[in-house]
Amino acid sequence: MPATTRPLLVDVHTHIYPPSYMDLMRRREQIPKVIKDTAGNEMVVLLKEEEGKGANSKGRPVGPQYWDRAEKIKFMDTHGIDVSVVSLANPWLDFLTPAEAVDAARQLNDDMQTYCETFKADHAAADSTSYSAQTGNRLFAFGSLPLVPGISTKQVLQALDQVKGHSYLRGIVMGTKGIGKGLDDPEMEPIYEAIAASGLVVFVHPHYGIENAFGEQDNGHALALGLGFPFETTIAIARLVLAGVLDRHPTLKLLLAHSAGALPALSSRLSSCIVHDPHVKDRLQHDFRYYLGQMYYDAVTYGPEELALTERVVARANNYESKDEQLAYVDRVNERRDLTAPEGVFPGTDRIMFGTDHPFFPPLEGQGDRWKSVDENLDAIAGVAGWGDAERARVMGANAVDLFGLEV
Ligand code: URA
Ligand code: ZN
Repeated sequence: MPATTRPLLVDVHTHIYPPSYMDLMRRREQIPKVIKDTAGNEMVVLLKEEEGKGANSKGRPVGPQYWDRAEKIKFMDTHGIDVSVVSLANPWLDFLTPAEAVDAARQLNDDMQTYCETFKADHAAADSTSYSAQTGNRLFAFGSLPLVPGISTKQVLQALDQVKGHSYLRGIVMGTKGIGKGLDDPEMEPIYEAIAASGLVVFVHPHYGIENAFGEQDNGHALALGLGFPFETTIAIARLVLAGVLDRHPTLKLLLAHSAGALPALSSRLSSCIVHDPHVKDRLQHDFRYYLGQMYYDAVTYGPEELALTERVVARANNYESKDEQLAYVDRVNERRDLTAPEGVFPGTDRIMFGTDHPFFPPLEGQGDRWKSVDENLDAIAGVAGWGDAERARVMGANAVDLFGLEV
């Protein structure tokens, strides 16, 4: 297909477990670990609720889609994805000792760089129909930092320097615990400062869920992933904002997994709770909702209405500080409803980016090559009422090119 007939599609939420990480999990007896089921298939067991008597889900299948680059490219080709920015999947290095985490981060950052860089060398000019034909770049990555309890700031900053020196690494992936106490831990301050100065994007992703998210019945992973994960992100980011991290580090680029979970839907309620609470009412420089316009979101919502909500909340944040601006904004939205209004009515689309969460959520059986989980997210982007070609192109790929500085 000629490169100009459709918008560039960039996947900013797509994971791998490099072989070195798989080996690490295969050697372990405690979660996270990789075990074999009775049929000899490898299963990854990540969460404490998956273990012990009465556990209602004992792991999930794990196979070459998690580590084989050819499988990633096949998946990308099947779904028309031009470029992926891959990240280590959860639970990253959270479970290691400081010394182990330092070594593992060093290895994984080298692995990630090689994963991206050697693709170009191996496939130069092979995909002449794709957007990336000119540069040969289809893979970029997030690096990892040794963010574990007991680590020194110096060790984290050394790893950050390594990431900065790896040309294909454009950000770092981070869980919600920081170095153990959460993203509002004052000990994270020098780390945030250094990351903000580096210009790297921080991809904040959940792993632990919330208490009781599995339920008493055998609910598989449905509640834990569908609700526990996004609520974990919601709380972690609310804590980070409320601690003033974005006031002190306004240039920090945070990309929030699963469109920040419930944060867009609950931001006005939270704002109200803050201003009615004497403990926190004067803590922030802006209304809580303002900060939603300072962060970035993947478009992994699975529905156009939820994606529209994220965009509206982000857009409102940009217009939040003056009543006149808000009213003018509502006028512009109403104008746009007749589809004759000029562009610029959906400014929140500047901060939202397509993602798949590959290789999680594969088709269950016999559903063909295309993944329903991917198509729902593509359909969501296509289906937001009022968005035109310009908005869709931004969300599908142009924003990611800008944010990560991708040479494609
Ligand atoms: N998506 C992820 O990234 N990790 C999981 O464990 C499940 C879904
Ligand atoms: Zn994910």
